[in-house]
Amino acid sequence: FQVPTAINEPVKSYAPGTPEREEVLVVYKQMYNSKIDVPLYINGEEIRTGDTATMAPPHDHKHILGTYHKAEKQHIQQAIDTAIEARKQWADLAWEQRAAVFLRAAELIAGPYRAKINAATMLAQSKNIFQAEIDAACEFIDFLRFNVEFMTQIYEDQPDSTSGAWNRLEYRPLEGFVYAITPFNFTAISGNLPASAALMGNTVVWKPSDSQIYSAKVIVDIFKEAGVPDGVINVVYGDPVMITDTVLASPDFAGIHFTGSTHVFKDIWAKIGTNIHNYKTYPRIVGETGGKDFIVAHPSANAKQVATGISRGAFEFQGQKCSAASRAYIPKSMWADVEKFVKEDIKSFKMGSPEDMGNFITAVIHEGSFDKLAKYIDQAKNDADAEIIAGGSYDKSKGYFIEPTVILAKDPKYTTMCTELFGPVITIYVYDDKDWSTMLELVDGTSEYALTGAIFSTDRYAAAEATKALQNCAGNFYINDKPTGAVVGQQPFGGARASGTNDKAGSYLNLLRWVSPRTIKETF
Ligand code: ALA
Repeated sequence: FQVPTAINEPVKSYAPGTPEREEVLVVYKQMYNSKIDVPLYINGEEIRTGDTATMAPPHDHKHILGTYHKAEKQHIQQAIDTAIEARKQWADLAWEQRAAVFLRAAELIAGPYRAKINAATMLAQSKNIFQAEIDAACEFIDFLRFNVEFMTQIYEDQPDSTSGAWNRLEYRPLEGFVYAITPFNFTAISGNLPASAALMGNTVVWKPSDSQIYSAKVIVDIFKEAGVPDGVINVVYGDPVMITDTVLASPDFAGIHFTGSTHVFKDIWAKIGTNIHNYKTYPRIVGETGGKDFIVAHPSANAKQVATGISRGAFEFQGQKCSAASRAYIPKSMWADVEKFVKEDIKSFKMGSPEDMGNFITAVIHEGSFDKLAKYIDQAKNDADAEIIAGGSYDKSKGYFIEPTVILAKDPKYTTMCTELFGPVITIYVYDDKDWSTMLELVDGTSEYALTGAIFSTDRYAAAEATKALQNCAGNFYINDKPTGAVVGQQPFGGARASGTNDKAGSYLNLLRWVSPRTIKETF
């Protein structure tokens, strides 16, 4: 099969004076100054239920951006019925037709929608423009383009036919519909979870995070303009428990594509188990959940490189990445240098609203997240086992701003060494150089999660030792780099243990979960 070769979308610079910078600022201001009303989107129709909630920028939470409509149970049922009906035609469409729809979506984001999807992500998820460009533009485009390549890779995988019969595998979509639950922290993930299942011929009921509805609306517009037929991707907002319970009660529920918190995913898994006798098929359960991602420095590492790994790994994107570094282990011999460099980095970070392009740090997503982070910071201020050595202030008067914070833990199992906080806070434990090997055991045993991790070392034996010792505690493992920034097509992404089912977004492994292959043997 020949499809256009996928290449990673180049990241635009947004330097002062560039047209992209001017354009995104104009669109941002227009969006800020107007109000939108986001309906449900079922069978290609906009449904306004009248039961509404407001949306506001995390960095300016008194400013209303608009409203969205919340679904009632009947709307969820309607979305399910529609998805089942739409599947009849969509599943039988030639794969090239489905691929073309999503390739067109990629081109719309690369071109006419780029400023809009970036501005929406800046405004409603409080990302600075560089973060929005990497996420909402480039990563989203990459998912859409590379998925088409991965799909053909799957279709090309055919069994042996040399013994006379023609054996073939037909990659059918799942029998039923797919439920997508998507997070606030990546616009790209939000778009990719319904799109990847739909590309493989499935139809979808999609529930975005309440904190990402503003940019989800832009995605809905893009999918519509790209030619996703009515009923193929149906979008609902509102009470998550009601929505999920209604979806999981359907005998046609065939799979879930989830990114979000560990406890929600575990609850959903348990509910699927309870309902298992009602389903026509065994539902596919694919989830990417939490992390407590680490950086380990060997005494041979370069201190500056380690410090940059901490500053970028922990504080970029306000630490609101499932991959963000949130615990680090630094040898005593290197600590003074690492501490100095990290403090210098933090001093240089400007914090504020994303429309000021000089701001590196913006706000965390909502009050619940702010309060949780503030609570752990206060606890560290008062605990004998911990000390705040940088940052530690917070202010929610205008937006939910948390200063990048470094906690030094005297106990390697201190609360914030183990608990996921999902914000710009890292906890560091300084170990005795001679304890290197036992420290690796400690890293492995400290967290229930296994998403990302990084080892810094110029000693190849130490790097190899760490790679082996830490083989079960990071689905994405980095040697001499920060543990964030996986690129579609280059570093397939996902983790194990409490971090998820490790179905590797950004590779064919994920798409395989959305097909139910049929083996055909034909004799002549
Ligand atoms: N792709 C994102 C990262 O690896 C989640 O940081």
